[in-house]
Amino acid sequence: MNLEIVKRVGIAAAYKGAGVLLSHFGRISEINKKGAIDLVTKADIGSEKVIIETILAKFPDHAILAEESGRNKGKADCKWIVDPLDGTTNFAHQLSCFSISIAFVLNGNIVVGIVLNPVTEELFTAVRGEGATLNGRPIYVSDSTMVSESLLVTGFPYDFKTIFEPLLYRFANCLKASRGVRRLGSAALDLCFVACGRFGGFWEQNLNPWDTAAGILIASEAGAAITDFSNNTFTVDKKEILATNGKIHKEMLALLKIVE
Ligand code: IPD
Ligand code: CA
Ligand code: CA
Repeated sequence: MNLEIVKRVGIAAAYKGAGVLLSHFGRISEINKKGAIDLVTKADIGSEKVIIETILAKFPDHAILAEESGRNKGKADCKWIVDPLDGTTNFAHQLSCFSISIAFVLNGNIVVGIVLNPVTEELFTAVRGEGATLNGRPIYVSDSTMVSESLLVTGFPYDFKTIFEPLLYRFANCLKASRGVRRLGSAALDLCFVACGRFGGFWEQNLNPWDTAAGILIASEAGAAITDFSNNTFTVDKKEILATNGKIHKEMLALLKIVE
């Protein structure tokens, strides 16, 4: 499989999705709900449609796991994981922090990752073993060795009430120990911002594969350490993610540990 071609198709699909998102940005009149605060708009649906069409036009037999349309049939060894709009709540409230996230999985390994913010025109990409880039330039994680010198980022899942106490406990610990904690609203961008050194670390619970698949490859290719909260290898089906520059990982694990 030629991963350069895969990457090119993924990038083309991301820009097609971006066109749809920008055509709706600031003009959304109808917002539907998947849950009490879990929104979906015409933009999510329209972006996903053109992304899938672009991928299948080149690779008609590939499988696609996309957030809004469920699981497609296709060759299980060649699978795309797509979030057509990561940051729907921001988008619906006219905040420009949102992205398109597209990953390609070959025989169970994520080998290509693409995250695009259509408004800032920042395009993050990675191919396994070849490093990560931002608009074509190599990126690396930050070199801070202490949480006290790091800016952190986290997210709150839509079902945050089910994990409210541990979520607040972890947030308080990290806030007290760091230079600050941001909550930007797009997990894919959070991971990319760890990749390019803006944040020292990112943690969240209850994400889905489409939120993290592309971002974890980009972050790890840029030098990030990515585990669950018990320091086990992270996989996209896991419910806890901690991504750091590696140097503050141990300290972050201690801050996230719930002490009874
Ligand atoms: C959400 C964003 C957000 C995270 C949520 C995700 P969506 O994705 O990544 O940052 O905190 O848990 O569900 O719904 O905007 O695609
Ligand atoms: Ca998402
Ligand atoms: Ca989404």
